[in-house]
Amino acid sequence: EVMKELFGLRDLEKSLERRFGIKRVFVVAGNSDEDEWVKKELGRACIQLLKSRLKPNDVVAVMGGTTLAAVADMMMPEANMRSVTFIPARGGLGEQVENQANTISAKLASRAGAQYRLLHVPEQISEEAYASLVLEPSLQDILKLIKSASTVIHGIGDAKTMALRRQSQHSFVDKLVNEDAVGEAFGFYFDRMGKPIHKQRTIGLQLDDLENDDKYVISIAGGDSKAQAISAFMNYRPSDVLITDEAAAESLLALP
Ligand code: BG6
Repeated sequence: EVMKELFGLRDLEKSLERRFGIKRVFVVAGNSDEDEWVKKELGRACIQLLKSRLKPNDVVAVMGGTTLAAVADMMMPEANMRSVTFIPARGGLGEQVENQANTISAKLASRAGAQYRLLHVPEQISEEAYASLVLEPSLQDILKLIKSASTVIHGIGDAKTMALRRQSQHSFVDKLVNEDAVGEAFGFYFDRMGKPIHKQRTIGLQLDDLENDDKYVISIAGGDSKAQAISAFMNYRPSDVLITDEAAAESLLALP
């Protein structure tokens, strides 16, 4: 906290809380676009928050990405998380194994000494196969658990970056650009105003599930390249907590 005063980070946090109506913002020093260690600091801040908040038997749903992978890397053994369950928030969205939500929840749990469950759904699947898959009892159990999550932790990406990372067709990428999609979270693409304009089909948490306000939503994203994307998602729905870095915070406050 003393260091934060020194760097003026608390001022950035308060300005962001006011501007976007976010209950609590945490800003770490640096720019994760430039330095890998800044992502680890984002991860560390997230773990600290979880330690102070999680209660026995809580269910925590997590998304994928390199930022969430950094969160898992920073987890430490936690005796009071033993009965907490980590679970992927949604099915596969086209990531390398180490950045998949399944891998991240398993890693969080094994490092903390907590519990985890996996969600196995193929990424490319026809509408029909999908419809019958969700009727499987084993899958219904885990979907229920996901919907019951008290806490959700997710990353936010730049729309075009995410579409390209998912090897989307060129026509789709062009469409996103034409429609002014700037941000992506949960497999949904958002325009500047925070309107969801495209959705990647998969099972698990849907955006509507966040609207009931019964889940504590932690958004974690840094780097000035993500400012527009973070702003888009916060315009859609201000999270309970935003964990970001100095570079993104400054760009966010400079947006028109
Ligand atoms: C993906 C999520 O795994 O990670 C996206 O499905 C998110 O919703 C993205 O935007 C963030 O990735 P990164 O690597 O920038 O943390």
